[in-house]
Amino acid sequence: MTDFDFGTREDPHAQTRAARNAPVLLHSMSVFREIFELIFARRKIRTVVEIGVESGQVSGIYAELGASEVYCVDPAPTERVRKTVEAHDALRLVTVPSPEVLPQLPVADLYVLDGDHNYAVVEKELAWILEHAPDAVVAMHDVLWPWGRRDLYYEPSALAESDRHPVSEDGPTVWHDDLTPAGFVGLGAFTVAEHAGGERNGVLTAVEDALAAHPEWRFELVPAVFGMGILYRTDRDTDEGLQRALRPFTSSNLLAALENNRIALYTRVLQMQFEAAGQAGHLDHLAETVAAQKREIDRLTAELHRAWAVLRSS
Ligand SMILES: C[S@@+](CC[C@H](N)C(=O)[O-])C[C@H]1O[C@@H](n2cnc3c(N)ncnc32)[C@H](O)[C@@H]1O
Repeated sequence: MTDFDFGTREDPHAQTRAARNAPVLLHSMSVFREIFELIFARRKIRTVVEIGVESGQVSGIYAELGASEVYCVDPAPTERVRKTVEAHDALRLVTVPSPEVLPQLPVADLYVLDGDHNYAVVEKELAWILEHAPDAVVAMHDVLWPWGRRDLYYEPSALAESDRHPVSEDGPTVWHDDLTPAGFVGLGAFTVAEHAGGERNGVLTAVEDALAAHPEWRFELVPAVFGMGILYRTDRDTDEGLQRALRPFTSSNLLAALENNRIALYTRVLQMQFEAAGQAGHLDHLAETVAAQKREIDRLTAELHRAWAVLRSS
């Protein structure tokens, strides 16, 4: 059984109540809590380095599961993150960006990579971790669409031009292979590579290249909520306990089908919102035209009244 309340005959709306209170787009790694529980149950995890914190929704989970030190790395921490960090003894805020920050922190038992989702950054993060933290588990987000095969750059980006593909403000959609202003757009927060695929493009491509250089590491993929990747050395899982524990998630065609359906529906919603905003602009224009015409009618009416008054008095 799950933790979800699906209601009863006396309370038939419990499920829909929960559904409407959830965000329209699930995107936080907090939804992977049960995967983290499996990892914590099989590994001694004391130190966590979390790259990319955003709201701080996940940071507390690592402490709850037993970590004594959680380094929350985000160069642009929100007020909410600062408050979350202050409220937990185990959490430490670090504002130096990744990958530069990695050698400045203690070697961790768990790295969670969810910062800048592009090849250049993820390549450097993995190169450092796979070399210096052989006992660690690495959990990473966004290994599937839209950033698995297409770079995202948080703006303004500190990356050298040679590390960036030509970028666009438009975003990807499921409904065709081009970028579109009606797609998954960054609205100033990020830009995306104009083209998907090819070399040195996207998070999953960076993982594949890291694995080619480090074949002693295994990669597992949970095909849900933009894709969660898990990396660990096979010689640190000799009884295959972690691999077996993850298998219900990593081998689930059901999860993969739900994810494809989710991204299709979500990008359809984005497209409809874009079209509705266009319609709203059209209606605004219409309202402005009507208001201008009304002002002109009022002016002409006043002129007419003045002319009548002059005629009557003459
Ligand atoms: C997708 S959000 C993280 C979401 C969070 N992990 C969660 O699951 O709720 C990405 C975050 O990465 C941060 N970020 C961007 N570039 C970064 C970098 N080079 N190093 C660390 N964090 C970065 C952004 O400020 C943003 O808050």
